[in-house]
Amino acid sequence: MLEIRVLKILFVSPKDRKPHSLLQLSFCIIPNPFLNRLMNKRKILVTSALPYANGSIHLGHLVEYIQTDIWVRFQKMQEHEVHYVCADDAHGTPIMLRAEQESITPRQLIDRVWHEHKADFDGFHIGFDHYYTTDSPENQAFCEDIYRQLRARDLIAKRSVEQFYDPVKQMFLPDRYIKGECPRCHAGDQYGDSCEVCGATYSPTDLISPYSAVSGAKPERRTSNHYFFKLSDVRCETFLKNWIFESIPAQPGVALETRPRLQPEAANKMNEWLSAGLVDWDISRDAPYFGFPIPHTGGKKFFYVWLDAPVGYFGSFKNYFKQNQRTQAEIDEFLRPGGNTEMVHFIGKDILYFHALFWPAMLEFSGYRTPTQIYAHGFLTVNGQKMSKSRGTFITAESYLKQCLNPEWLRYYYAAKLNDSMEDIDLNFEDFVARVNSDLVGKYVNIASRCAGFIIKKFGGELTHNISEASRKWFNQFLFCELGEGDTFLGRHMSIANFYERREFSKAIKEIMSAADVANQYVDRMKPWVLAKDSRNDRELHEVCSVALNMFRMLTVYLKPVLPKLAMEAEQFLGLDPLTWKDANSQHRLLPEGHRINDYEHLMTRIDPKQIEMLTNANKESLAPAESQQAAQAVETMEKNSSATPAPAKAGEAGQASASTISIEDFGKIDLRVAKILDAEHVPGADKLLKLTLDIASEQRTVFAGIKSAYDPEQLKGRLTIMVANLAPRKMKFGVSEGMVLAAGDGDGPYLLSPDEGARPGMKVK
Ligand code: 2FM
Ligand code: ZN
Repeated sequence: MLEIRVLKILFVSPKDRKPHSLLQLSFCIIPNPFLNRLMNKRKILVTSALPYANGSIHLGHLVEYIQTDIWVRFQKMQEHEVHYVCADDAHGTPIMLRAEQESITPRQLIDRVWHEHKADFDGFHIGFDHYYTTDSPENQAFCEDIYRQLRARDLIAKRSVEQFYDPVKQMFLPDRYIKGECPRCHAGDQYGDSCEVCGATYSPTDLISPYSAVSGAKPERRTSNHYFFKLSDVRCETFLKNWIFESIPAQPGVALETRPRLQPEAANKMNEWLSAGLVDWDISRDAPYFGFPIPHTGGKKFFYVWLDAPVGYFGSFKNYFKQNQRTQAEIDEFLRPGGNTEMVHFIGKDILYFHALFWPAMLEFSGYRTPTQIYAHGFLTVNGQKMSKSRGTFITAESYLKQCLNPEWLRYYYAAKLNDSMEDIDLNFEDFVARVNSDLVGKYVNIASRCAGFIIKKFGGELTHNISEASRKWFNQFLFCELGEGDTFLGRHMSIANFYERREFSKAIKEIMSAADVANQYVDRMKPWVLAKDSRNDRELHEVCSVALNMFRMLTVYLKPVLPKLAMEAEQFLGLDPLTWKDANSQHRLLPEGHRINDYEHLMTRIDPKQIEMLTNANKESLAPAESQQAAQAVETMEKNSSATPAPAKAGEAGQASASTISIEDFGKIDLRVAKILDAEHVPGADKLLKLTLDIASEQRTVFAGIKSAYDPEQLKGRLTIMVANLAPRKMKFGVSEGMVLAAGDGDGPYLLSPDEGARPGMKVK
């Protein structure tokens, strides 16, 4: 949001004022947009999605919390008023059943998990201002109020719904708790919403021989009255169409340019959903259910967990403000329309539907403020593939910390990969080790470790401010980056701030490391270790080490949102008060004459690749029998609507049984061929699909395969796989799919099948 200001202010036109040297530039008065902003503090309520209270935090979750935390810390360094709240998402059937399995009450379960989550977040320096739970009186009051307001506006409908009912457990079953035979391929033990063997999607009532995954009983079809939020109402549609695509207006002195509310990819997705037509949303569940009872239903109906989850942002915020003796008016300033405040949600791309459709519509028609911006991010892959328990890449936050890996390594690596898009990011362990060791230890920490000792031993810990023209030139080269052909310059602190603001963290890191390169070139050129050999060089030695430590201080400012603990230790070593962005901003960037530093203790160790090996070993689950006998799974060319109800964890559930037998003649009907992947590419707008161009000797085929979560297209080009060549072509949203590629999978995966060496495209598989 700072781009316009930066462009206006920071280009130094050669016609107006061509700097004769970088030295001269350092004395130019540069108007500073950030100073203006200090006088116009933004007030921002920031949230990350609430994790379910029945599972551990893992490295995939941490992408979001680290992303949000960096953004929040940056805003706080700009001295804006920011409140970062979160909570455990504590309600719903999976939590109720999990507690039952453990023979404890749901409240005992969510209390235990709350402490586990809190410890994980603290361990990764996620600086929530408040971490609460959705199972709170504040949340209940908000949910009831929202429901009443929606009713008063005739936006709640009551309808009868037919569902499966478990007569043994005496409860209605969510789709994922019903299993049976797939109506299409007849594979056994398939979930009530989709088949993992052939990929078909259906409703649970289509399953053949359904049974309850909770008790094993044959479910009955029963009807029950449900409450719906009337999202299809023309008022909701009209509101959402405007809200989604409107930009956030410029606010003089706060943000001079307009900003889109959603990222372009998210806005496209919304467009698709709006064009398909909005449908009413079932917000109720029947007892027994762990959640809030819906008023006046005699304890028989409960709010669906996805209704009370986002409302939990408000519950957490209110509890936090009350604890801090803030008034109702101050609370309302953030939660009611008209306050000069922002509400920013960081979420994963899979829950966009809930946050950009249901949530704003619910708020708009119940008298609350709507979100200012929604930032969606992609998923995490590890070494180019989906996280996997058998490969040991499904890594929990707790095990990472227990294995004594430094959490700031991961924060730095994620920052170096994150941008403002919804693309997935990959944690590649080799790259992780190389990057952290080279950037953080080899470039950043190295500056301090090479210079601090001389200042302490030879100059009583005091820095000098008197520096030569040559060193000043180096310092300016460090502070400013060159744009264009050597005649336009930009203060790095401004370009870095701009990148942080826009969540272009990878670009911020690139800029910071380019400044660190200048600092290291300076030290390498001046060779303080050589100067130190002859006391006649003491003045120069003092100057070089002082300038280098000033550069180190500036790098610490730039890196502080990403590395809060390291920055605190660096502040202590440098003898400084907590650094804010103003410190990078000042016209007097050198510390004053005689500023005293403290003894240096090594700030960060290198990653030993053995630590990664130990980490993955610690997270490796031995192959369960079902996993080792995985049936080959045809990867269906389908794209599911990502608004599906989140699936409960499958751990502990029975493994997938193989489909019922077929004759050899039946098998012979399938024309399986070796295929060479000539090309693989992303499909714009598709979350799961890759478009493959396959060579089967006699011809080329286009196949859309649901393997995007596990493969980078570049990795696939040139490799051989197996395809079903005589599958009838299927017209899909993105084009016609002319076959299927085969892959193994069981929740984990997919793993594309490959023939042994020697196989050639077009060969028949028998
Ligand atoms: O998808 C999830 O993990 C949900 N627990 C996120 C809820 S975010 C918000 F709506 F509370
Ligand atoms: Zn099937």
